[in-house]
Amino acid sequence: MLDLDKYDQINPPTRLLMGPGPINADPRVTRAMAAPLIGQFDPVMTDYMNQTMSLYRDIFKTQNEQTFVIDGTARAGIEAVLVSTIKPGDKVLVPVFGRFGLLLCEIAHRCRADVHTIEVPWGEVFDPNVIEDAIKKVKPKLLLCVQGDTSTTLLQPLDKIGEICRRHGVLSYVDATASIVGNPLEVDKWQLDGVSVSLQKCLSGPPGVAPLTLSPKMVEIIQARKCVELGIRADNDEGGRDEMIYSNYFDIDMIIRYWSSERINHHTEATSMLYAARECARIVLQEGLDNVIERHRINGAAMVAGLQAMGLKLFGDLDHKMNNVVGVVRPEHINDLEVRNLMLNDFGIEIGASFGPLKGNVWRIGTMGYNARKSCVMQTLTAFEAVLNRVGFKTTQGAGLQAAWNVYNK
Ligand SMILES: Cc1ncc(COP(=O)(O)O)c(C=O)c1O
Repeated sequence: MLDLDKYDQINPPTRLLMGPGPINADPRVTRAMAAPLIGQFDPVMTDYMNQTMSLYRDIFKTQNEQTFVIDGTARAGIEAVLVSTIKPGDKVLVPVFGRFGLLLCEIAHRCRADVHTIEVPWGEVFDPNVIEDAIKKVKPKLLLCVQGDTSTTLLQPLDKIGEICRRHGVLSYVDATASIVGNPLEVDKWQLDGVSVSLQKCLSGPPGVAPLTLSPKMVEIIQARKCVELGIRADNDEGGRDEMIYSNYFDIDMIIRYWSSERINHHTEATSMLYAARECARIVLQEGLDNVIERHRINGAAMVAGLQAMGLKLFGDLDHKMNNVVGVVRPEHINDLEVRNLMLNDFGIEIGASFGPLKGNVWRIGTMGYNARKSCVMQTLTAFEAVLNRVGFKTTQGAGLQAAWNVYNK
């Protein structure tokens, strides 16, 4: 018999999440999630779905009709777009500058794409001309690119990429999970065909839902693969001219039919996550998208100034760093885990470790979403400086805080 006394009601400790995401959700979002559940075709629910589409068009800066959410974490959004657009054998090109570029390769492989890559060392980004040269050489159907790769903290400039792709007849897909609303992203102006994101970084929400937007061209390619599932197929439902999408859950053609006035019965929309997505977008748009980006810029700059004033070396090309996360190079002879444990256990602050070539050697500190705030930056710098001194890395105590204050007071 299970001893239920050992299974207390969930009561996690309060942490300040200053890693590369997830971060603490805005209390407005968790309150929205606690709202009563309603049926998936209740007119109130379908109204919320329509409103969520409109709100995210403003977040993505797009007129794309097909702007909605996929139920699942960021990689669910990525996988949905990739499996719905890539037919086995299609050529794709992935500029890889960190772990999440490799994730795009991995998912594309599983869609049986013919995957081509170009790479730069972790800590750098691509010159758009290099991407264009690779497009000319490979002639892919799709370019798959990350905007902000949290593994390296860097931000790939994308303003020219969509236009380059259009000129060469290539579709562009961007994973903007970590960068959305913390850094500029203009889907229509930059001519991007597909962009997917998630809530758990600068949008101040929990992981579990992936907003995305698709250009009419991308939608046309997806709709040509129409295949309505057996149990709900009507007599007049003909298949598309192209081969079916090899996933049911991530079949974007069916998901579009569910989100449109047709309202076919595909999955059951994750009600509480939809409430969360809607509230995250409302919070950002009420503050003003440009103000939110600026808030990430200034808090990110204060964190950078504070860390540098402690004598720490920062990772990568700082001219191309995301506003919302910074990599700190571990000083020699300082133990990575000991520092992270002291931060967590003695201050309740989580900072991030790293993976791949940076594993054990770089800490990643985020200033994003609800935690892109002065008090969070100051608390983190105070704790980090104390911990580093405790483990033997000597700083001029207080220098980090003064440098951060100077950024805020400029
Ligand atoms: C750029 C990027 N893409 C994708 C992901 C994967 O997100 P998830 O764990 O929500 O699937 C992450 C997570 O950190 C990310 O930073």
